[in-house]
Amino acid sequence: MIDPKTFLKFLKERRSIRSFQEKQIPENEIEMILEAGRWAPSASNRQPWEFVVVKNKEILDKLSKSAIYGNFIKGVPVAIAIVAKIKTSPKWYLIDTSLVSINMMLMAWSLGIGTCWIGAMSRDKAKKIIGLGENDHLLTVLPFGYIKGEIPGLTSRKPLNKIVKHIN
Ligand SMILES: Cc1cc2nc3c(=O)[nH]c(=O)nc-3n(C[C@H](O)[C@H](O)[C@H](O)COP(=O)(O)O)c2cc1C
Repeated sequence: MIDPKTFLKFLKERRSIRSFQEKQIPENEIEMILEAGRWAPSASNRQPWEFVVVKNKEILDKLSKSAIYGNFIKGVPVAIAIVAKIKTSPKWYLIDTSLVSINMMLMAWSLGIGTCWIGAMSRDKAKKIIGLGENDHLLTVLPFGYIKGEIPGLTSRKPLNKIVKHIN
C-alpha cells in the first residue's frame, strides 16, 4: 500500500499539462499508462473500452485540428484515444471510460509525463480520423509527453466546507 499522505500530495500536485517536449516516451512507459487504464473499475466489470495509441505525426496533426481547445496535441510524441464501446455497456460506458482516463493520467504523472483531458473537440471529426465506428464513443484523446517549461502552479479547488454535507 502507498503511504496515504504521499498519495494525497501526489493527487494535489498533478496538473494539466499543455506544453510538451518532442522527446519520445519509452514503450514500457506507454505500456504502463495503458495498463493503468486497463485496470480501471467498470460496471459489472464489462470493460467497455478500447485504446488507440497514436504516434503518427499526420494523424496527431489532424486530431489537433479537430480539437477546439487542444491544439497542443500537435507535437506530442504519443496520444491515446479512449474509446467507449457503447453496446458493451449502454448505461455506464461514459463513467467507466472516465475512470480509465484518470487512471492513465495519474500513471503518467507518476512517470513524470504530462497530459491534459481534452473535452472540447469535434468528436465526429476525430472519430473519422482514427477510424471509429458508429457504436464507438470517443471519450477523449489524451496527449502524452514530457513536460516543457515550468509545471503550472496549484490550481484552486472549492474548500471542503463548501462541498461536504455531514449526516451523522
Ligand atoms: C471533462 C474535462 C474536459 C476538459 N476539457 C479540456 C479541454 O478541452 N482543453 C483543455 O485544455 N483542458 C481541458 N480540461 C482540463 C481542465 O481545464 C483542468 O483539469 C482544470 O482546469 C483543473 O486543472 P488541473 O487539471 O491542472 O488541476 C478538461 C478537464 C476535464 C475533466
